[in-house]
Amino acid sequence: MVQRQLPNPVELLELMKFKKPELDGRKRRLDSALTIDDLRTIAKRRTPKAAFDYTDGAAEGELSLTRARQAFQDVEFHPGILRPAPTVDTSVEILGGPSALPFGIAPTGFTRLMQTEGEVAGAGAAAAAGIPFTLSTLGTTSIEGVKAANPHGRNWFQLYVMRDREISYELTRRAATAGFDTLQFTVDTPVAGARLRDKRNGFSIPPQLTLGTIINAIPRPWWWYDFLTTPKLEFASLSTTGGTVGELLDAAMDPTISYDDLAVIRDLWPGKIVIKGVQNVEDSVRLRDEGVDGIVLSNHGGRQLDRAPIPFHLLPEVRKAVGDDFTVMIDTGIMNGADVVAAVALGADFTLIGRAYLYGLMAGGRQGVDRTIAILRSEIERTMRLLGVSSLAELEPGHVTQLTRLVPVSRAVTEAVVR
Ligand SMILES: Cc1cc2nc3c(=O)[nH]c(=O)nc-3n(C[C@H](O)[C@H](O)[C@H](O)COP(=O)(O)O)c2cc1C
Repeated sequence: MVQRQLPNPVELLELMKFKKPELDGRKRRLDSALTIDDLRTIAKRRTPKAAFDYTDGAAEGELSLTRARQAFQDVEFHPGILRPAPTVDTSVEILGGPSALPFGIAPTGFTRLMQTEGEVAGAGAAAAAGIPFTLSTLGTTSIEGVKAANPHGRNWFQLYVMRDREISYELTRRAATAGFDTLQFTVDTPVAGARLRDKRNGFSIPPQLTLGTIINAIPRPWWWYDFLTTPKLEFASLSTTGGTVGELLDAAMDPTISYDDLAVIRDLWPGKIVIKGVQNVEDSVRLRDEGVDGIVLSNHGGRQLDRAPIPFHLLPEVRKAVGDDFTVMIDTGIMNGADVVAAVALGADFTLIGRAYLYGLMAGGRQGVDRTIAILRSEIERTMRLLGVSSLAELEPGHVTQLTRLVPVSRAVTEAVVR
């Protein structure tokens, strides 16, 4: 029989420990986000549908993006035991400079659409965290504006080579003059991918007001307040006649770019140059042999060719083919610090985050991007500790199995034959 007694008010009082309420609404909101998915939920609540969908969406059936995220979830880690890791070092050397974490911010176009602080928030947060920030050719803050937001840290510039070559060359020169140290030359956009959500939402640049957008605006007053009371939302480096993002890309991009363009750009650019959007082993090897400084295995976050290869699946083969000394970076689908750890274990020198950064931005401007970085940092550190490693260099392929739900049949067959 359990003995019962009257409740003791003193014991009850000891249990009652109320936290001081957080009066700063933005901080309260961001503190409640424990994962990047949580930030996405907040972002969706606060951002007009067309802007959120432009960010969150991908091309056609969005299979490339879904599969890339799935591939990271299908990781099995293999921890070592009784290996003390009282501290972990998450820093890396990448492209001739330091980064405090094994990820940087990927280039994203039209960033002030998501939240008015845009690239300034991204570059400022990157500066505070000691990681590189990449400005897109289609950015909404100028090269010099980004430099001012991140004056002492590392800025990278993403280049699209456009039909009007002189525009691209001029931007390259300007980024070099402003002290950007790395150029990411994106090559997976000969034409725009079919972003169906944008079409369905009637999303255009500049954004148009329709009855639907006005109704959708009612529960999102802060976004509209920001939009209407801050400088006009426009491309900082390009002039445009308007249209959907797809129409705009199609008008600006040149489907005939080739290795000849790479040669011209290399002559113009004094810093490091990496090719972004590489999607097979042969191109990786060719680019290494051409003497570029590195590649980004990427399918553009699933926004270009749908059903493209999953970069994370390509990674081990590419690393094997190009050898240990060539810089291989990876993006698409990273939503958790553990994804970054898995990528490094399988041979990535560095990773880039696109939407993870933009969800933070939409959830709370600069502080939201700080929150994204803090969440990923703590996930990276915790995963490393639980694996029993204290530095990124200790991570090796044996720490990770890629579960095989999405492995291409041809590769599985080849491996079976070899066995
Ligand atoms: C809204 C948005 C805009 C983007 N704009 C560009 C761009 O202008 N140039 C570019 O090279 N990549 C662009 N990307 C692709 C990112 O650089 C990156 O490859 C991709 O977001 C990585 O996938 P993730 O979002 O799953 O992290 C964009 C991605 C998003 C989500």
